[in-house]
Amino acid sequence: MRVFVAGGTGAIGRRLVPQLVARGHQVTATTTGADKLRLLEQLGAEGIVMDGLDAAAVDEAVAKARPDTIVHQMTGLSFAHAGKPNFRHPERFGAVTNRLRVEGTDHLLAAAEANGVPHIVAQSVATWPANRERGLVTEEEQLPLPELPAKFRMMAEPLHHVEGVVVNAGGAALRYGGFYGPGGGVEGQIELVRKRRLPIIGGGTGCFSWVHVDDAASATVLAVENKATGVFNIVDDEPAAVSEWLPHLATCVGAKRPLRIPTWLVRPLAGDMGVAIMTEGRPFSNAKAKRELGWELRYPTWREGFKEEG
Ligand SMILES: NC(=O)c1ccc[n+]([C@@H]2O[C@H](COP(=O)([O-])OP(=O)(O)OC[C@H]3O[C@@H](n4cnc5c(N)ncnc54)[C@H](OP(=O)(O)O)[C@@H]3O)[C@@H](O)[C@H]2O)c1
Repeated sequence: MRVFVAGGTGAIGRRLVPQLVARGHQVTATTTGADKLRLLEQLGAEGIVMDGLDAAAVDEAVAKARPDTIVHQMTGLSFAHAGKPNFRHPERFGAVTNRLRVEGTDHLLAAAEANGVPHIVAQSVATWPANRERGLVTEEEQLPLPELPAKFRMMAEPLHHVEGVVVNAGGAALRYGGFYGPGGGVEGQIELVRKRRLPIIGGGTGCFSWVHVDDAASATVLAVENKATGVFNIVDDEPAAVSEWLPHLATCVGAKRPLRIPTWLVRPLAGDMGVAIMTEGRPFSNAKAKRELGWELRYPTWREGFKEEG
């Protein structure tokens, strides 16, 4: 197949492009910086410079690549695009990402329609920091926007948009768990864990669903090859409370046990969204992705995967 990866240089793109190439697909992948074209070439793709917020540029790039499938992996979460992460002001830190999820998705869909591309796969997120008591999140459920902390809602609304328009166009929205592995988000947290600056807040009752970047990439390859339609939770087999995974991560990277801090003390620093993620997060089920995509995980649980983070 001819596959167009919008955002080929990011945490997921770097692992996805080589897997697509290894399966015999012809890949065109994008970056916003000409200095990263060589990296894309080394990954096995034909590289192209494209700003996902420029409708004409997106149309031109897609027309040139003539793909069978478009994969949307554009976010602006790295330091280069967003500066330092700020949980108290996610609307500032996430501004570019939100635009890429709304306008960027719309531009890709318009380009797909104009150029006869029949299928699209896009990135969504498996984070649900509210109503922990309701248990496992399946694909039947949409994020209950009004119930989310206001600041998280600003990040969730664009994801809602992605899932709606992509599924409506006959494509697949992949709700990835928290990335770990090479280039994954845990790397950024390890320094904090080592300095005991990532505490267990309010009992650490919030659940996280993790996924190794290579497993996230292999699920994406299957979504492309199967021309999958619908929403899929791409998470590992063992969603876990912060009180379980954070001490294990500390052990794996040779750090002391994390501190425990009450919510009232940390709220002014972490904000409502940070507290909700650490105390209220719901676990996600991966049953549909395994059943319908035939997805097999190389790292079924973070318990094993985190051992390679040290
Ligand atoms: N589910 C998750 O846990 C999850 C999901 C996403 C990201 N993250 C984490 O967030 C951190 C940063 O993510 P990242 O490394 O993927 O970097 P990123 O800065 O979010 O970039 C992702 C991709 O989007 C592209 N991009 C950025 N702005 C663009 C624009 N205006 N138009 C078109 N493409 C654009 C980037 O290209 P260039 O930079 O080459 O221009 C790159 O290919 C990592 O730690 C990652 O693990 C986690």
